[in-house]
Amino acid sequence: MQKLLDDSVTYAKSFPKTGAVASYIPELAKADPTRYGAAIALPNGRTLISGDTDVPFTMQSISKVVSLILALQTSGYDAVFKRVGMEPTGDAFNSIIRLETNTAKPSNPMINAGAIVVASCIQCEHPFEAMLQLTRKFCGNDQIELNEAVYLSEKKEGKRNRAMAYFMQSEGILPSDVDVEYYLDQYFRMCSVSVTAPDLARMGMVLANNGVNPVTGERVAEGWQVRIAKTFMVTCGLYDSSGAFAVKVGIPSKSGVGGGILSAVEKRMGIGVFHPMLDAKGNSIGGVRMLEFLSQRMGLHMFSEPETVAG
Ligand code: DON
Repeated sequence: MQKLLDDSVTYAKSFPKTGAVASYIPELAKADPTRYGAAIALPNGRTLISGDTDVPFTMQSISKVVSLILALQTSGYDAVFKRVGMEPTGDAFNSIIRLETNTAKPSNPMINAGAIVVASCIQCEHPFEAMLQLTRKFCGNDQIELNEAVYLSEKKEGKRNRAMAYFMQSEGILPSDVDVEYYLDQYFRMCSVSVTAPDLARMGMVLANNGVNPVTGERVAEGWQVRIAKTFMVTCGLYDSSGAFAVKVGIPSKSGVGGGILSAVEKRMGIGVFHPMLDAKGNSIGGVRMLEFLSQRMGLHMFSEPETVAG
């Protein structure tokens, strides 16, 4: 398996360099486009690593998985889905159009508008601290912290997210008695949590094990919460590339514009990949290549025949 992981990194590096690092959040433009990292976490607690697995990057939209689970934990199913839908959009992650032409209720929790609403559903005194703690538990890493520079950069430049939040408040989707900037601040912080590929692999393993850390036996989230999160990872995890990704890779996954992708192979493994160059949809180019390789070579597609599975 180590050889296959190494080969996935080599495979991803073999393609001509295309795409660009995210620059609409200025701090993200500093990412080194030559970095490629991949990690696999197994149920026995082993984590295999290859490439630049010690390079930190911010979770960005991968944080939407954690914030959704935390909102479900603190507000419950009905309160969350009263305010955010369950349908993929086929639009860009930061698209505004459906909020006015469809309904002001965002289509799903994985687009930016949906994640801002989800942040408002986290019922506790310190939502960001709770989200950070939950991320640490998922990743089995107490050292995970906020990247202050990315947070400040995003807070300063997040005009599009601000536009959506104010619009949703005007339509009664966000509560009118709370300053929208409060929810935006939670959202920007959550996106700016710094992780590595092995952190994401361990989180993927907990998701693959339906919310229980297979090493410690600790339950990090209830099975029903994890099932909902993984379902959205399949239908909306790579935004308007989710359909093609489901056909080619077939692993519940969530991407972020920091260049990371979180993947959970049911019962078998968690995978974390990283490469900061993004395609036009905002997904890591090298990350998708590594996952394509691993899925094909190890038979990880969710509809693989059991006998085709290689070890
Ligand atoms: O709000 C934003 O635009 C970013 N903080 C997160 C977007 C993102 O990661 C989209 N992912 N592919």
